[in-house]
Amino acid sequence: MTLATADRLFVTRRIPDSAMELLASAMPALQIRVNEFDRNLDRHEIITGASGASALICTLADPIDRTLIDSLPSLRVVATFAVGTNNIDLEAARARKLVVTNTPGALTQATAEVAVALILACSRRLAEGDALTRRGGFQGWAPLFMRGRGVFGKTVGIVGAGRIGTCVARTMALGFDCRVVYAARKTNPELEQSCSATKVDFETLMRESDFVSLHCPLTPDTRHLVDARALSLMKPNAYLINTARGPIIDEAALVEALKARRIAGAGLDVYESEPELAPGLAELDNVVLLPHLGSATIETRDKMGLMCAQSVIDVLRGREPKHRVA
Ligand code: DGY
Repeated sequence: MTLATADRLFVTRRIPDSAMELLASAMPALQIRVNEFDRNLDRHEIITGASGASALICTLADPIDRTLIDSLPSLRVVATFAVGTNNIDLEAARARKLVVTNTPGALTQATAEVAVALILACSRRLAEGDALTRRGGFQGWAPLFMRGRGVFGKTVGIVGAGRIGTCVARTMALGFDCRVVYAARKTNPELEQSCSATKVDFETLMRESDFVSLHCPLTPDTRHLVDARALSLMKPNAYLINTARGPIIDEAALVEALKARRIAGAGLDVYESEPELAPGLAELDNVVLLPHLGSATIETRDKMGLMCAQSVIDVLRGREPKHRVA
C-alpha cells in the first residue's frame, strides 16, 4: 500500500509571517520550504528547490518559463506575489493545466501613492533638494534657488487605465486639479466620470501631457512603447513617470533624452534590466530613482502574502482560486 504523501510548497523569497501562519493553520500537513538565501534564485535553483512540490509561491523576479514549468511536473499551482505576470509563460501554464494566480487590487493604492510621489519629487526637485541639504549646500533662502515646476492645474497623461492608472488619475484630478487624458485599449467610463478624463491616442497623450505616467502591463505590444520617437513627442518641460514595468521604456533612449534635456525629467521605480540601471542613468540630476518599492507598504505586502497563501490553499483543496490568471 502506498501512503499519500503530503503536498509540498516552495517559496522563492521570504514573505510576510501572516501568510506563513495562514498556510500552517489551514494546512498543517503542508511541507513548506522557503529559499534560505537572502537573494533571488535563478531558474536552476528554483527547479531544484521546487522539485516534487505541488505549489510554488514566486515573485516578479523569477523566470517562470516553459523550461521551468516542464521541469516541475508535480506542480499544480503557481501563486505569484505580484499583480504583473510578465515573468510567467501563461501559455505554457495553460497547456499544462497549471493554475497561476496573482494579487490584483492589493497594491493599487500603494503603487498609486508612489506614482504621485514621483510626480511631486521630480517637479519640485525633492530628491535633489534633500541631497543638496545633506551635503551642506543649503546656504539660505533665495528667490531663484531650487525652482521647480508646479503640479496644480497641469495635464496628466495616464497610459493604461486599469486600477492603478485610475487611482493616480483620480488623485491628480481631485487633489491637484489636474486635467487628465488617458490612452488605453478600452474606454474607462469610471475614469471619465470621476475626473472628467478624456481618452486620446498615445501620440496625443505624449504631446499634451505635463506628466506622463505609465500604468499598462508589459506585453509584446507595450515593450519599448516609450522609445526615442515617443520621447521626442513630449514637451520639453514634461516629466515621465514609470511605476509599471521597466521594459515599457527604452531606457537607453530615455538616458539620451534626459542628458540632452529634451524632456524635463523622469521618475522611475522600475528598470529595463532590473536591478541593473542603464549606463549613465544614475549620473543624471533630472531623474528620481527608486528601487521598485511601489507596493512596499507593510499593509500591502501582508495582503499580497495572504492572497498567495489563500490561492495555494484553494488549489490544493480542489477549489477554484479567486485570482486566477491561467
Ligand atoms: C507587481 O505586483 O506587479 C508590482 O510591480 C510589485 O511591486
